[in-house]
Parts: sequence; C-alpha cells; structure tokens
Amino acid sequence: TGYTTLDPGFVNTASTSSAITYIDGEHGILRYRGYPIEQLAGKSTFIEVSYLLIYGELPTATQLESFTDRIRRHTLLHEDLKRFFDGFPRNAHPMPVLSSAVNALSAYYQDSLDPADPEQVELSTIRLLAKLPTIAAYAYKKSVGQPFLYPDNSLNLVENFLRMTFGFPAEPYEIDPEIAKALDMLLILHADHEQNCSTSTVRLVGSSDANLFTSISGGINALWGPLHGGANQAVLEMLDEIKASGSNAGDFVRKVKNKEDGVKLMGFGHRVYRNYDPRAAIVKQTAHTILDKLGGDDELLDIAMALEEAALTDDYFVERKLYPNVDFYTGLIYRAMGFPTRMFTVLFAMGRLPGWIAHWREMHEDPATKIGRPRQIYTGYTERDYKDVTSR
Ligand code: CMC
Repeated sequence: TGYTTLDPGFVNTASTSSAITYIDGEHGILRYRGYPIEQLAGKSTFIEVSYLLIYGELPTATQLESFTDRIRRHTLLHEDLKRFFDGFPRNAHPMPVLSSAVNALSAYYQDSLDPADPEQVELSTIRLLAKLPTIAAYAYKKSVGQPFLYPDNSLNLVENFLRMTFGFPAEPYEIDPEIAKALDMLLILHADHEQNCSTSTVRLVGSSDANLFTSISGGINALWGPLHGGANQAVLEMLDEIKASGSNAGDFVRKVKNKEDGVKLMGFGHRVYRNYDPRAAIVKQTAHTILDKLGGDDELLDIAMALEEAALTDDYFVERKLYPNVDFYTGLIYRAMGFPTRMFTVLFAMGRLPGWIAHWREMHEDPATKIGRPRQIYTGYTERDYKDVTSR
C-alpha cells in the first residue's frame, strides 16, 4: 500500500507540534507554558492558569479581572437546557450526562459555532468555562434527586461550583475556604497534559472543523475510560475492595504482578512518566492535609500508602518504571470533600477543560493543521466474489 509505519497507540508518533505543555517523563517534569507545575499549584489560581493555557501568558491584573468578569456573566444555563437533565434516569453516571449536556450547548448557543470566526471562538470559550461547573453540579443534583441551584455570581468559579453542588435553595451555604483552595489547586494540576487520549480526541474531532462544544464533548467521553480519567474512580473502588476483603497491600501487589484476572494497580503507570508523576507528589501531600482536617477515611489512605510502598519496592514495578500517577491519591481527597465516587471523573473534566480549549484553538491557529486522518495497514481479504444468501 506504500504505508508501512505502524505505531499502535501513537507510542512513538507525534501527531502535532505544540507550545502549550512540556513534559519530561524521565525526570518527572511538567510545565504549562514554561511555568513549573509546582509553582502554579502553590501560587496561582485555576482561573489564572486557564488564561495562561488558552492565551499563552499569565494575565495582567486588568486582563484577569476582565476574563473573570466575562466568565461570571455566562454561568447560567438556558432554562430549556436545564430540562434536558430530567430525561436522564436518576441512577445515570454523571459523565454521559456531562458530555451530552456539553454537546447540547451547540444546539442552544448557535451564535458561537463557527471555528473560523475568532469572536465566536472566544464566546464559546467563555461559555464553556462558565457553564461547565453549572452543568457538572446539575449532573450531581440530578443523581441525588435534589433541586438545581442558580449560580451565585458573587462567588468565584470554584466556590460557585461547591455551592451549586452541596447547597440547597433556601439555605445559606457556608464555603470552607480550605476546601475551595484545595479543589482549585487540584483543578490546576489537571488543567493540561499535552497529547493525552482526551486532548487528542478534542483535536481529532476539531480537525474536521466541528465546533468547540461538540469537540469538547468528544474529549469528555474519551476521558471517562478507566485507563484515562476514569482511573480516579477505579482507584477508590480498588481501595474500597481491598478494605472490604481484609486483604493487605502485599497480597494485592502480588495479584497484580502475577496478572491474575488482568488486575492492574489503578492509579499507577503512565505512558510518558517513567518517574514519579509530579502531580501525584503534590496530591499526596494535599491528601494528608485535607484528610487530617476533614477526618476522611484514614484507613483507605493507609492502604494507598502501603500499596505505593509495596509497589515501589517490587521488581515488577521497578523494572517497568511504574509510579503513582495523578489519579492515585485524588479520590481520597474528593471523598473527604463529600463527592461521591461517580463524580470524580467529572472533577477531572472540569480541570482539563482549559487544556482542551487551548489545544483546539492552537490547532485552528496553526496553518499546518490538516484534518486528522490516520492511515492503516490492511490485513483483510484481498478480493472475493459475492455469494447469494442461499449459497453461504
Ligand atoms: N498495573 C500493573 N501493570 C501495569 C500497570 C498497572 N497500573 N501499568 C502498566 N503496567 C504494565 C503493563 O502490563 C505492561 O507490562 P508487560 O510489559 O508485562 O505487558 C507494562 O507495564 C507497560 O505498560 P503498558 O500498558 O504497555 O503502558 P501504556 O503506556 O500503554 O499504558 C497506562 C499506560 C496509564 C494506560 C497504564 O499504565 C495503566 O493502565 N495504568 C492504570 C490506569 C491508570 O491509572 N490510568 C491513569 C493514567 S494517568 C492520568 C490520566 O491519563 O487520566
């Protein structure tokens, strides 16, 4: 066929050039637009990091104020779109609810669909950043059968999300600044990670000139898988199972290395990191602080730490350079904050949104962009003759 290069999973093939995020997997380094993740997590805010990823520079005070203000004006959902949530069964997982509602934005906001019009792209960018927390909170409210709350725009993005998620219409909701700060920091850690599965999906969908909303919806679906963003839910389920079965970390690690029933140590391993995921190091620290403060399940944290220790000293994991990734400790924090396990990947999606948008926009601004259209190595029949149904 003339096409001989086969690279399953794009292990060694760059699909694009990009100036957004730098990862050095050997040394465990992650930088957004050149800024080390440790500095951003310690000093910045999610809204500022969103600006940085999308526009390439940290905002000035005036730029930040105007960006924040524009987002604040778009937090409401169209009233008809609110009714969309009623059609889902109460026990639906919030991820398909989230991706469907985001896709539905293309039906409700038709004045911001043209990828070739910078003003429309800007409007859809702001709409997504503003509305995703509202949609995420409604997906949660739907799952617990509680009333939706309108956004309170005197609050910042994370505070507003916490109130819409955990608050009630007739009651004041007291925001714990430490929880809001920790959640903001976790969103920063998830904000971008170059050409991962969901971001590559957003780029691939967007490469056909599909609109931003629908491209992001595709990314949310890709994120849901347990090998990607769904791992944070899978980790907590694994820890719960180990706790319930009364087995210990060593037993579980042995089961994993013997590949019994295809069991993996969820929250471990990464395509790019061959070293400690720098995000996991920050999350582990935060897990201790938050669990101390909120009285989370210390037993689960103990199991997680014992698993980490058993894995990091085991040949199987050492030889394969498998270390904890960002998902290993996040679930413990989310649970301590009061989120049910099924909401964990939704929180990941909220964090990853600015990265997806930044990549979609970078792709559209790049004159080298072509529609994504991988080739294949054909392994089927060469040619055969059609047989009538009676003679097959
Ligand atoms: N537990 C046990 N063995 C593992 C694990 C694990 N978590 N991860 C990789 N391996 C083994 C794998 O079986 C293979 O062994 P062998 O050579 O004997 O066949 C070897 O390590 C190389 O792994 P791979 O599957 O070829 O590596 P990959 O780059 O294709 O996959 C991964 C990367 C993240 C999908 C994988 O490590 C994994 O499934 N981890 C568990 C799920 C997880 O935590 N995902 C979150 C990733 S980070 C955040 C995000 O993207 O959402």
